[in-house]
Parts: sequence; C-alpha cells; structure tokens
Amino acid sequence: MSSFSFSPGFGSDNHSGIHPRILESLGSLNHGHAHSYGGDEVSLLAEREFRRHFGEDIDVHYVFNGTAANVLCLRSLVDSYHAILCSDQAHLHLDECAAPEYFIGCKLILLPSHDGKISPVDVREAMKRLGDQHHAQPRALSLTQPTELGTVYSIDELHALMAVAREFDLRVHIDGARLPNAAVHLGVPLAALTTDLGIDALSFGGTKNGLLAGEAVILFGRSRRPDFKFLRKQAMQLPSKMRFVSGQFLTYLETGLWQEIARHSTQMARTLAQGLQDFLEIKICHPVQSNAVFVQIPKPWTHPLRDEAFFYVWDETHWIMRWMTSFDTTPEQLQRFLGKLQEVRRNHPV
Ligand SMILES: Cc1ncc(COP(=O)(O)O)c(C=O)c1O
Repeated sequence: MSSFSFSPGFGSDNHSGIHPRILESLGSLNHGHAHSYGGDEVSLLAEREFRRHFGEDIDVHYVFNGTAANVLCLRSLVDSYHAILCSDQAHLHLDECAAPEYFIGCKLILLPSHDGKISPVDVREAMKRLGDQHHAQPRALSLTQPTELGTVYSIDELHALMAVAREFDLRVHIDGARLPNAAVHLGVPLAALTTDLGIDALSFGGTKNGLLAGEAVILFGRSRRPDFKFLRKQAMQLPSKMRFVSGQFLTYLETGLWQEIARHSTQMARTLAQGLQDFLEIKICHPVQSNAVFVQIPKPWTHPLRDEAFFYVWDETHWIMRWMTSFDTTPEQLQRFLGKLQEVRRNHPV
C-alpha cells in the first residue's frame, strides 16, 4: 500500500485519526465470532457502562453517524404534524441536508441565537397557535451542547430552558456530538447535563471524540420506546458487526478516556486562544468553552496560514474562521501555528 503523509490541522475533530486506545480495543475484539446486531457480550457490557453514567432508566441504540443520531432521536419524539424548535445555528438546520425534514417530515422552527445559544424567552415566543389545526404544533426542543459555536450552556441556562419545555410539554433533545467537552468545561458528570435535567433524547457523539465511527442514541425515561429498533432499521442505521461499535464506547466510557480527551482538546483550544491575545488584528468571536476557537482574521492572512495548518472559513460574509482542536493536537503544533501567525503578520501588515 502507498504511504500517505497527513499533516495535523485545525479543520475539525473528525480530521484526526482514531485514538490509540480505541484502536487497540478494536484489535482486542478482532478474533473469533460473536453474535451480530448487538446480541454480543461486548454490547451488553457497553450498555452497563452507559447506565453507570446516565442511570438505569435509559435505552442505548448505536448508529453510524451524528446526522442519523439527531434525526432518529427526533423521529422518535415527534410526528410529522409537529414542529421542532432549534437554534438558527443548529447543525440540524444548516448541515444535515434537510434530513430531519425529509425523514421526519416535520417543520423546523428556527430560534435566534446569541453565541450559538437560544433563550427561554424565544422558546416561549414560539409557542403560538397551540391546538390550531392549521399550524404545525411545536413538540420538541433541540439544543446543541456544546453549541456549534463552541459555547456551553450553563446548568442554570439549561434549567431555565427545561422549565419552559415542561410548561409547554415539549420533548427535549440534546445534540451531544461533543457533550464531554461541555461536561469538562462545567466540571460536572455527563448525567448532570442529561438525566438530572429530565431530557428525553441524546445524540452522544463518538466520531468527533477519538472513535473510528459510531454514535449512540440514548432515550430517557418516558421517551424510551421498545419499537425504536424498527425506526433504526428502517433508517438503515443498524450496525451488524455491533461489537466493534459498542466496544469503542465501552473503552471510551469505562477507562475515563471521554474525560481525558475532552480535557485535552478543551485545554488546547484555550491555549490557542491565549496565544492570540498578542494579535490585535484578530478578534475572538465567541467565548472559548470547548474545543473550537472562532476568529475573524485579516483576509490576506488566510492562505499562508492554511499552508501551515488547514482550517475552514466558517462565515464568508464576516470572514470568520473555525480553528478546532482534537485529542491529538499538541502544544508544539500550537507554538508552530502561533509562530506562523507572527510571520504572516510581518509579511502582511494591516
Ligand atoms: C454538533 C454536531 N452535530 C451533529 C453532527 C453530525 O455528525 P455526522 O457528520 O457524523 O453526521 C456534527 C458534525 O459535524 C456536529 O458538529
């Protein structure tokens, strides 16, 4: 096989490879035969591990990607005549190719966001024409934690949103593609951001956090449904060699790797943001609370910086970049990038 040389960058946490301990665990599972579709011993142990973190009153269902996790969580909470409330920055809205609308068949109602977060006031504002047969009925609230802009809802903010949701009998879904980063930022266990709040469904990410592939749909309490397995199969999201998906989560949760990775990637983002303080030409656009740094930079700096490390232009109108760290981002890589910034500033003064 040809050899490839991949260089580290800030493109996304799914640009990185597989965490060595996850890869090792996959290797350790790669012998003999085991039952498929979740009927294996590894999946049983992984489920026990999920219950240790999220409590006994849950069901866990694995799927292949985050879009499917979001769509299936919400599909299980609403009917096609319902509406789902989410932020105008939600991955659900901007980056899922209308999969929620296509597969669920219902309306997304976009709420204004500040630093990626929506407010209880705006949720309340959307609760109109309830019972009116001409109007799609708001039934679910989808929050992203951390948000798409790298910010984290505080526990108080979450309680306030849950209170409005309860008042209007809204089901609550959390897109937790990077939930461990939020838990680490707030210094709380995963249950504090999910079970203890009384949410209904969680998309729990794996791929962004060092796994090869795989996400978990977790349904809580009143929203557990035995027929979810049919929804997943119909959506073509039932992994057959399940032990290789569940086994990754087993290692991730059992050994504390979830916390280790989230601590590291969050710290790397903070270090990068601190290093930017010397650059008055750069504006940090949102509080850095997880593993993403959003910056507005002078346009001529973009290409030379991208030659050093790839990243995405997040917002072409305001020329905002997203610099994202990962489990394998190193302090040396950050130093090199900050050095490159100095050089680019010398060559392209603004
Ligand atoms: C917040 C969030 N949710 C969901 C997803 C969807 O993940 P996938 O690309 O695996 O469908 C992503 C991916 O970037 C994401 O950032």
